[in-house]
Amino acid sequence: MSTAVTLRNGVETNNAMAKRRKLEDTFSNKSKKPVEKGHKANGERDSIKDKCGLKKNQFGDLSNGFMSNGDWRKRWDKGQTKFHKPTYNDILLSYYDAMVNGKTKCRVFVPLCGKSVDMKWLLDKGHSVVGCELVELGVQQFFREQDIEYIVETIPSLTNGKLYKGVKHDIRIYTCDFFELNSTTTEGKFDCVWDRGSLAAINPSDRSRYHDVILDLLDENGRYLLDVFEVDHTNFAGPPNSFVKEDLHNLFAERCNVEDLKTRDAMNPWAKSWGVEYFIECVYMISFK
Ligand SMILES: C[S@@+](CC[C@H](N)C(=O)[O-])C[C@H]1O[C@@H](n2cnc3c(N)ncnc32)[C@H](O)[C@@H]1O
Repeated sequence: MSTAVTLRNGVETNNAMAKRRKLEDTFSNKSKKPVEKGHKANGERDSIKDKCGLKKNQFGDLSNGFMSNGDWRKRWDKGQTKFHKPTYNDILLSYYDAMVNGKTKCRVFVPLCGKSVDMKWLLDKGHSVVGCELVELGVQQFFREQDIEYIVETIPSLTNGKLYKGVKHDIRIYTCDFFELNSTTTEGKFDCVWDRGSLAAINPSDRSRYHDVILDLLDENGRYLLDVFEVDHTNFAGPPNSFVKEDLHNLFAERCNVEDLKTRDAMNPWAKSWGVEYFIECVYMISFK
């Protein structure tokens, strides 16, 4: 049976969090070494293992944690997309009402969407869904697997940018680098943003740029539902890249209210195989002040 502990924010959690706190305490007294590329901050501990900065990543390779656009394309080409889940995300289902905030026909943005089935769920709820995904193969798989007829347009303002548009369904997915998007390209701002495995997948050095794009896309009354992880990087190279509460609050604090919605132990057999001691899911609702 797990023992309940209380975190600084007062959220009741279990053993995994206690483990993480213990590991943090152990490492907090160590002298700080220079941080490696791709893991610049955010409560990282020094690796106790490798000499050359490489650790195993979720794909089973040695990595410094940095993912280039080419690296993501390679993973899709090889079918290494275990991050994709075939079922609707329970966090989205639980906090959907809070995200739409009483509105019925919302413009919902799904950054770094992959082929997330959540987009179909949101579509079926009657919303106008807009995604962004770097890898065209993933977008093609989404439309094929969801059996949605589409047309493709090129977007000259984006590098190799295309727009996949549902013919009978109100869904559009930009195939481009997320960092090139702005609210002019997307033809307006969004009432809601659903972010699962997106900010978590971004290289830590790009977090501030990611924040800028998201806040440009979010309507002044919009709600940003965010799902990230606190993950042990002792022997594991992201993504997902650990995001501790303080860093998340600091990133958005200047312009936004950040509400802690949920913290839960998300350890599962796959995460266990990465050799991590803890894998904690943290859910936030972000809105403009
Ligand atoms: C961890 S996956 C998560 C996908 C999706 N959110 C889900 O829940 O299944 C991250 C996705 O982001 C895409 N990606 C990575 N960098 C990107 C970028 N700069 N612009 C757009 N998409 C990107 C990857 O190709 C990958 O499909």
